Amino acid sequence: MKTPIFITFEGGEGTGKTTQLGLLQKRLEKLGREVTLTREPGGTPLGVEIRRHLVANSNDPPVPTAELFLYAADRAQHVEGVIKPALAAGHVVLCDRYADATVAYQGFGRGLDRSLINELNKIATGGLWPKRTLLIELDHSEGVRRSLAREAALDEAESRFEEEEAAFHKRVAEGYRALMKENRDRFRLIDGDGTVEEVEVRVWEALKDLFGEAS
Ligand code: TMP
Repeated sequence: MKTPIFITFEGGEGTGKTTQLGLLQKRLEKLGREVTLTREPGGTPLGVEIRRHLVANSNDPPVPTAELFLYAADRAQHVEGVIKPALAAGHVVLCDRYADATVAYQGFGRGLDRSLINELNKIATGGLWPKRTLLIELDHSEGVRRSLAREAALDEAESRFEEEEAAFHKRVAEGYRALMKENRDRFRLIDGDGTVEEVEVRVWEALKDLFGEAS
């Protein structure tokens, strides 16, 4: 069995994470790795239901504490039902957002208590943390613009977070920066500006040592 590796991608809205994750999956499969590509919220059937309540525009959105618990519930189900089994089978698990997102969005963005978030993350993850986390950074207004354009094109109504004020996105970005400083061994910063191909090169540079290629 090959060594299981758990990698997460984080960042603000519309930074290109999802596109890059798809490209990385293809690259790793060409290298002969089995890959589980998944996401939070929404990586399990229960999570898909939870996601709907979290990201949809609604007249009755969850209050911040309910939002926090919903992300934690999504994560608990995801870790037990998808991530742990995939790692046990020797897969590379690529996850589009994970526990860091709760610190950045609910902690720094919404201002909820950091120690409560840490406690919930500890319970929901069962102590499972990624080997590496790529933080893709892009000017937040450009990211929100890209994200809203994508949703309009797909006719998706997932814009509850994109429609938050600029100050919220700024706090989220600061939160990710703070997390990166606290976890330098695990985090790598990726400039999300440029073409898909340019960013793809940066992503691989930040990960290839995990797959036996010299960095
Ligand atoms: P996505 O659009 O990247 O899939 O993420 C959905 C939204 O959920 C995004 O605006 C970030 C937000 N989010 C949180 O607020 N807290 C979390 O713990 C996670 C995983 C995502």
